[in-house]
Amino acid sequence: MVKLYTYWPYATTLFDFIRRAMPLNSPGILSNNELYAVTAYLLYLNQIINKDMIVNANSLAKIIMPNRNGFINMYKPKEKLQYD
Ligand code: HEM
Repeated sequence: MVKLYTYWPYATTLFDFIRRAMPLNSPGILSNNELYAVTAYLLYLNQIINKDMIVNANSLAKIIMPNRNGFINMYKPKEKLQYD
């Protein structure tokens, strides 16, 4: 299973990655509505959101990714990035 929680600090970045890069063989074919739906499904599979949550432009940015503050600043390796 895709482990989204270690890799993505924001749900919006995940959405953006899927929008620009997926499906790998023909990126750009999904509508925004479909992109919100697959993003929501992946977040649900990773137990980041529950089954009933409606993911759209407004709610996507409010999702807190579990590893949000676990990323290391490559320019100052001793400091963790603080997003809040
Ligand atoms: C709508 C369908 C698709 C969705 C929603 C999707 C979503 C994703 C996501 C979220 C990732 C990042 C995984 C991570 O967190 O590490 C990813 C990576 C990847 N996907 Fe897809 N994917 C789709 C279709 C495809 C297809 C059809 C292919 C192959 C033909 C593909 C090949 C890959 C590859 C090779 C990676 C790794 C890319 C990299 O690390 O740079 N995906 N995909």
